[in-house]
Amino acid sequence: MIAAHGSEMANPGDFLRREIAGLPVLLTRDKVGTVRDFLNACRHRGTRLVDDEKGCKHRFSCPYHAWTYANSGELIAAPHFDQGFEGLEKADLGLIELPCEERFGFIWVSASGDGATSLDQHIGEIADELEALHMDDMVVVHQDAPVHQANWKILVEGGIEAYHFKVAHRTTIGPHFEDNLSSYRMLGSHMRSILMRTSMAKLAPETRNDWRLRDHAQVLYTLFPNTALLVQSDHIAWINQEALSAGETRVRMSTLVPKAEAERSEHWQRNHEITRVTLDEDFTIGESMQSTLASGANQNMLFGKFEGALDAFNRVVDAHIEGSAPNAVAAE
Ligand code: FES
Ligand SMILES: [Fe+2]
Repeated sequence: MIAAHGSEMANPGDFLRREIAGLPVLLTRDKVGTVRDFLNACRHRGTRLVDDEKGCKHRFSCPYHAWTYANSGELIAAPHFDQGFEGLEKADLGLIELPCEERFGFIWVSASGDGATSLDQHIGEIADELEALHMDDMVVVHQDAPVHQANWKILVEGGIEAYHFKVAHRTTIGPHFEDNLSSYRMLGSHMRSILMRTSMAKLAPETRNDWRLRDHAQVLYTLFPNTALLVQSDHIAWINQEALSAGETRVRMSTLVPKAEAERSEHWQRNHEITRVTLDEDFTIGESMQSTLASGANQNMLFGKFEGALDAFNRVVDAHIEGSAPNAVAAE
């Protein structure tokens, strides 16, 4: 899954702390620019090695007994090591590393260290579309990461239908979209949805050569499992649903803009705020849904025909759990 955007740790020595699928993770960029993904746990007795959310450091020293690691993972110093740990080798006590690759501007990680997961296989047929968005030439200019009291799948589902737009978003984006009109297409485990703005129906046929879909629709990519890319006319709102527990999700919402236009700070601040307020409407409803789940009022959720994308998303989740998804990697 996507853990970060490369611009959040652009320089050698930069690091980020994340929680990925329940694992404490430390992402580092070493002196030649390679990004690595380690478990953020000291190999001595398991203290969290790094507490800061982000920063720039070439070595990390454990706050308990000062075992010290390079940002490429090796244990480089440990006080009184030879007397206390006779027969052990520092070379065997580097940080535990997980698979990690930087592609399409993002840092992709796997929570399983067995090496069975290939990123190419995971990305599959959506690769060309990710390439076309040029996200490796973009930067994160704003980011919020609040925790919401809802399951991550409820929050993903909230973004892939237009049935609620005129109701839940009536005072924000609702007036700009057609009522209950959206389409979706599966690309392997991922999805591309199109939600029409009202401006689309007003386009004059003679201007057809100048039409750009992203000016008149919300183009939304749902990258399995937990990433949404809301493609706007001049930027991308990138949302990562980071599950903390079954009923708790950190929603990391970032405004991703072309590097060359990063200094238009007021414009991006305004856009970030509009997206944040709108998504908050969705997430508040998500928390409301979560709060009734345990009551047993609904043994099943009902998806109407125009909520087919939710059905498709859940089928993909089920298929991955069963190991039968089109681009799932079978357990060895
Ligand atoms: S737990 Fe880290 S040095 Fe002891
Ligand atoms: Fe919504």
